[in-house]
Amino acid sequence: MKEFIILFGVPGSGKGTQAKLLVDELGYTHISSGELLRQIINEKSELGQKINDIISKGFFLNDALVFDLVLEKIKESKKYVLDGFPRNINQANLFEKYLETTGAVLKKVIYLNLREEDILKRLSGRRVCKSCKREYNIYFNPTDKENRCDFCFGELEQRMDDNHDVILNRLKIYQSETAPLVDFYRERNLLEVINASNSIEAIFSFIKKILVGEQCQV
Ligand code: AP5
Ligand code: MG
Repeated sequence: MKEFIILFGVPGSGKGTQAKLLVDELGYTHISSGELLRQIINEKSELGQKINDIISKGFFLNDALVFDLVLEKIKESKKYVLDGFPRNINQANLFEKYLETTGAVLKKVIYLNLREEDILKRLSGRRVCKSCKREYNIYFNPTDKENRCDFCFGELEQRMDDNHDVILNRLKIYQSETAPLVDFYRERNLLEVINASNSIEAIFSFIKKILVGEQCQV
């Protein structure tokens, strides 16, 4: 039986960072809707150009397109961490239908709750290696080499949606489209809230406690 957890929270709350730890330490398969969309952009197709135009302004892609991309990634692995999906009530309903029809289980929705001043610093400080996609942050996790990746020496760049005006638009859309999912999952008794201004390590240990606690109840 397939199991899912959802990492949920504002842009910059640390969904991707925590998902990578879940992959490395607990063997989860990571599905990031944002990463899937950025991969299509990198293929330089006509669809990629359209996606680029939308993401670079901070708007959402079509629900059906994103849902199909997520479904394509659900294969033989048993444990999945979803990051960036579902992102509105319609996507949550689509996912709920998927769970009902396949018998897969949504174990927990982990809400990484972060204040706005922290969000701006994290996103404006993020840098990504052009070659190996490793992530850095000029404030919290800087590279040792001037604007180059410590591992492959690739050039570091900012994500196209990490400039100030686009960040503000992403936060506005988060409030109107994504924040209602807090109540959606609270009503289903699936929501766990973590203060995401803690350190990366502290947040990960909270997540592990939540997941282990769950196993103990089984
Ligand atoms: P997506 O890629 O999902 O971006 P996002 O949700 O805006 O979130 P981010 O990736 O910016 O932040 P994060 O929470 O992963 O934080 P991270 O770990 O990187 O989506 C991008 C776009 O794609 C959307 O705007 C939309 O256009 C489209 N899209 C995606 N999914 C969609 C969907 N389902 N439907 C429709 N459209 C969709 O951390 C951020 C920074 O902070 C890093 O530098 C990190 O090192 C640092 N950091 C992390 N944790 C800590 C900590 N505890 N302390 C200090 N620094 C930390
Ligand atoms: Mg991310």
